[in-house]
Amino acid sequence: MKIVFSKVSKHFGPIIALKDINFEVEQGDFVFLVGPSGAGKSTILKIMLNQVKPSAGEVIIGETNYTQKKRSVFEKIRKNIGVIFQDYQLIPDKTVEENIALALDIINYPSKQAKNLIEEVLTQVGLQHRRYLFPAQLSGGELQRTALARALVINPQIILADEPTGNLDPENSWNLIKLLKEINQANHTTIIMTTHNYDIINSLNKRIITIENGTITKDEPSKTTPTASSEPVKKKKIIKHKK
Ligand SMILES: Nc1ncnc2c1ncn2[C@@H]1O[C@H](COP(=O)(O)OP(=O)(O)OP(=O)(O)O)[C@@H](O)[C@H]1O
Ligand SMILES: [Mg+2]
Repeated sequence: MKIVFSKVSKHFGPIIALKDINFEVEQGDFVFLVGPSGAGKSTILKIMLNQVKPSAGEVIIGETNYTQKKRSVFEKIRKNIGVIFQDYQLIPDKTVEENIALALDIINYPSKQAKNLIEEVLTQVGLQHRRYLFPAQLSGGELQRTALARALVINPQIILADEPTGNLDPENSWNLIKLLKEINQANHTTIIMTTHNYDIINSLNKRIITIENGTITKDEPSKTTPTASSEPVKKKKIIKHKK
């Protein structure tokens, strides 16, 4: 699903969080959103999740134009967007496995097939041995991988990650980035990630959009230009299930 922001602005009362934001992200792209605290990065992600309504401009994701008001349309699109936040947002009285299962419940995934799928993502993020633990019993890295597994289990076309390494030590940060890179390459999943970590940004050679004061001040493409045809590479999918 292509993402298009066209002349998007957002005011919170007198606060101008975004002004005249224009960018497009193709399916399968990996994009960093960077910029100082308060620049408007999270606001952009929240608009994509329909948690924040733009004050002006147009947002289109796939076939959906966000100016329309139908709730069912957003519910459908949300099934294709996985989210990872810095504070994980896991349910404290549910185990790792149950937290992941909840994401499938929300999209009415048949519970018979859910078991296999949960198994797959647990293996993918290396948490099979922690499946029966509750969030309070997990380390920071394990919490973050649970959040990633929960985002992945719905096999989303887009993953939005808001400072996903913010609470992680360097080793766990790199592990998470490695996983995101794998998912991006194997599944052709679009990844949009905000971060303040320039070591990560510099090591990946991906497109970098810089936001300052609610405006895009730089939009630098990845330095490796893809081959002429941008046909998706036919690789084995990590997760395979029908929507
Ligand atoms: N619900 C809200 N009500 C009022 N102001 C808000 C609201 N949400 C965001 N803002 C303001 O909009 C601006 C952009 O916030 P945003 O969270 O998008 O920044 P950010 O780039 O994600 O910053 P950080 O790097 O610190 O996470 C900030 O000045 C913030 O105070
Ligand atoms: Mg933020």
